[in-house]
Amino acid sequence: MNLFIKNIAQLVTVASSGRRVKTGPEMGELGVIRDAGVLCREGKIVWVGSMADRSAPIPRDIPELDAAGKTVLPGFVDAHTHMMFAGDRCGEFALRASGATYQEIAAGGGGITGTVKEVRSASKKELKRSTARYLGEMMKHGTTAVEIKTGYGLDMDSEVKMLEAINELASEEIATVVPTFLGAHAVPPEYRADAGEYVRFVIDRMIPYAGRKKLARFCDVFCEAGFFDVAQSEAVLTAGSQWGMMPKIHAEELSPLGGAELAARLGAVSADHLEHVTAQGIRALSAAGVVALLLPGVSFFLNHRYAPARALIEAGVPVAIASDFNPGSCMSFSMPLMMTIACTHMRMSPEEAITASTLNAAAALNMSSTLGSIEPGKNADIIVAGVPDYRHLAYHFGMNHVTHTIKNGTLLEFP
Ligand code: NIG
Ligand code: FE
Repeated sequence: MNLFIKNIAQLVTVASSGRRVKTGPEMGELGVIRDAGVLCREGKIVWVGSMADRSAPIPRDIPELDAAGKTVLPGFVDAHTHMMFAGDRCGEFALRASGATYQEIAAGGGGITGTVKEVRSASKKELKRSTARYLGEMMKHGTTAVEIKTGYGLDMDSEVKMLEAINELASEEIATVVPTFLGAHAVPPEYRADAGEYVRFVIDRMIPYAGRKKLARFCDVFCEAGFFDVAQSEAVLTAGSQWGMMPKIHAEELSPLGGAELAARLGAVSADHLEHVTAQGIRALSAAGVVALLLPGVSFFLNHRYAPARALIEAGVPVAIASDFNPGSCMSFSMPLMMTIACTHMRMSPEEAITASTLNAAAALNMSSTLGSIEPGKNADIIVAGVPDYRHLAYHFGMNHVTHTIKNGTLLEFP
C-alpha cells in the first residue's frame, strides 16, 4: 500500500496534466525525470520528483525500493484481450506455417469456432484458473490492467459462464480486470443458416441479461465480412449502450467495411484493429476523438498488413496498442513485444509506443483519470525495468526486463 521508490535512473511519467489522451506530437512526450523518486500512499501516487528535491514528503517508516540504474514506468494497460479460452490452436499455427490462411482455417470450422467448442465444455472454474495463471504471467511482464472479452461461448450459458468467471477474477483484485461482452464474435454453428436470428438472440436475450446483472463494462462486436456487417454491428452496439455497456468494435481487421465510421457515429470508446482503415475512416475517428486501438501482434503473427499508425497519429487520432492475446491471432501477452513490433513495422517511435501502451491504452478503457501515468492522484500501478534507458524495452526484445510490478502501491511477489 505504502512505498517509496528511490534513486530511479529514468522515471517515465507519461504525465498528461489531467488530459484524457495524448494525440499528435504529444504522444512523443514522456515527461522523463532522471534520478527520481515516487511516493505511494494507500495505493495512490502522492509525490513524484527529483531525488535532489529536499522538500519531498518522505516519511521515515515507509518501505523503500531502490531503483538505482533502472527505469520506472506506469504499468501497461492491455486494453484488448481474448485471454479467457480453453485448449489451444497450435495445430492451426503449423497449418499457417505451411501456407493456410487464417480465413481458410476459419471457413473450415477451425478458428474461433474451434475455441468455442473447447470453452463450451470447460467449467467456469477451469476457465478462471487458466486465465488467472495467464494474468499472473502478464503481471510479471508489466501489465497491471487488462480488458477481457467473452465471445468463445456464443450461447447463453457459455457467455454467462465467461462473464461470471471474468467478474470473479475482477473481484479478486489481482490486476484491474475489465469485462467486455462480445457475444457477437462469430455466428455459432447452430445459427449458420440464419445469422440475423443469432443477432436477434444476442440483442433480445444476452445483452439484457448482461446489462441487468451489470456483468460487462463494454459491448464489442466483430464487424467483418463473414461475421457481422455494419448494420448488425450497429444494432448490437446500440442495444449494448441501452443496457449501459459502452461501445467498442473490431473494425477493418481483414477488409474495409466501414466499422471505423460506425465507431465514430456511435461515439465508441475505441475502434480496434484498423489494419484496412480508409482515409475516410481515419478522418471520422479523428473528428469523433475515438481511440484507435492497434494490435501489432496480430499482423505479425498472421503475417497480415499493419494498421497505418503514422497516418492515424498525423490525423490527430489518439493511438493505443494492445496485445489481443488469444489462441488464434496472437498467442502473446507481452506488451514490450507489441511495442517492438509497433516500432519496427508501424514506424511508431519508442516514445509513442509507450504512450500507446499506458495513458492512451487507459483511455481506450475510459480509465485514464486513474490509470496510465505516474502522477499524484493516480493509482500506484508502476513497473520497474532492469534497463538504463526506456528505449531498451522495445529495442532489446524477446526477453522480460521487468524486475518489479507494483499494483496499487503493493510490490507483488511472484512465486
Ligand atoms: O481480435 N477478430 C476477432 N477476434 C480475434 C481473434 C480470435 C480468435 O482467432 O480466436 C482477434 O483477432
Ligand atoms: Fe480481438
